[in-house]
Amino acid sequence: MLRNTRTRVRLALLALVAVASFAVPSSAMAAVSDGSVAHNQYSSWISYLYAFGGSASASSPAVYDDQGDSDRTNDVVTFGFTSTDTDYTIANPFAGSGTVAFEGDLFYDNASHYIDVDISDPQVEIPSTGSSAAKLTAVVSYDPLEVPGPQVANPTTPTRIDLYDLDLSGTFTPGASVHSWADVPAELTADGAFAFSGGGHGGYSAGQPFGTLDITAEN
Ligand code: HEM
Repeated sequence: MLRNTRTRVRLALLALVAVASFAVPSSAMAAVSDGSVAHNQYSSWISYLYAFGGSASASSPAVYDDQGDSDRTNDVVTFGFTSTDTDYTIANPFAGSGTVAFEGDLFYDNASHYIDVDISDPQVEIPSTGSSAAKLTAVVSYDPLEVPGPQVANPTTPTRIDLYDLDLSGTFTPGASVHSWADVPAELTADGAFAFSGGGHGGYSAGQPFGTLDITAEN
């Protein structure tokens, strides 16, 4: 009888320890309150736009920086952080998961080639700090090429799509309150490539390397 009681007490204590180890205080598991994303532009795309009289620009809180160099090979666009839709949580210095959300608009225009691609409010989805299956979604619209012509300006309704596949392996710097990723390779998804080819008419296809991202998420 005594033995049974002891066993029950032991089991009850074990159960308590198990529950306690999962019950992390909610303040320690809150979503991050700040973050940044900088997209180092794919220079071949920017060169193409400018070679034929086009431009790349942004509207606040996104900022477009041509770095003041005439060959435009180092252009960077940064977006503003928003807590709306951000649920990335730093679990410990080495682990975290969730979405970091941003605001702002990026415009790629070239009237002579009927290029009108707008990218807004990107969100970086991070399954784990070293995931090779992270992605960036954004609200995208583009002007499909009419084939055959004549061309008309009929941009698509802005729609959130998976824009870039991101491979975070080897890019992560851990931290108790800041997680950061540097030089993350971005590749166009199939939907992204569709927008960057005027609706599937040449240009890029899925898997096209499309610059790199620097990302931070901060408590
Ligand atoms: C009638 C309209 C267009 C004409 C005449 C045209 C012409 C061209 C030409 C000549 C090139 C090769 C440029 C080079 O190698 O230096 C090119 C490349 C390209 N075009 Fe267009 N284009 C047109 C419309 C579009 C549209 C609407 C899009 C997408 C929104 C687009 C996306 C691209 C892309 C992604 C490339 C490859 C750029 C690179 O080399 O990285 N084009 N186009």
